[in-house]
Amino acid sequence: MLDDIERILVTREQIARRVAELGQQISRDLNRLRDEDEFVMIPVLTGSIIFVADLMRQIPKKVRISVVTVSSYPGPATSSKGVEIIGGLPDDLADRYILIVDDILDSGSTIQILRKALLDRGARSVRVCVLLRKDIPEAKEVKCEYVGFDIPNEFVVGYGLDYDHYYRNLPDVAVLKKDVMR
Ligand code: IMP
Ligand code: MG
Repeated sequence: MLDDIERILVTREQIARRVAELGQQISRDLNRLRDEDEFVMIPVLTGSIIFVADLMRQIPKKVRISVVTVSSYPGPATSSKGVEIIGGLPDDLADRYILIVDDILDSGSTIQILRKALLDRGARSVRVCVLLRKDIPEAKEVKCEYVGFDIPNEFVVGYGLDYDHYYRNLPDVAVLKKDVMR
């Protein structure tokens, strides 16, 4: 697996520092909620598993976790083939304060579709936190309250992000060698 890496773009140390900062920022913003307000983190599977595991432990607040599954890259594809919410949204979203957590903002379709679907279900507030955002106009135009890192427009893997279902377990965010990607 390590032989397939061309270069590391964001190291595990940089990620850890930034995740702690994001956690502090989100926690501060949550201070405006009242005790009876319900806060729900909605991680987008599968790419956000590692990020959300780290991020939620930096947010010392009462929170529920409800996952959603979104598919946009079937198989060995490196550009979005259209977004689909699989298995529906969690129940009980009315009046909730929601934080969508995703690995990366690319075309922005995932975030836009999810934010709208959650607001349509009656969520009181929907905010978005992504670890990475690609430096492309489409991504920058999408509303996103919390961004970990802006990165060049390259296909990346690691820290939850996959290529053809592999490499999620790399601790750093990396670019693969050209000959590895079909
Ligand atoms: P969007 O809907 O185009 O913004 O794409 C977002 C989803 O595509 C992310 O949640 C990722 O699962 C996937 N994705 C986008 N760019 C990359 C990448 O560089 N590597 C791995 N997955 C990616
Ligand atoms: Mg994803």
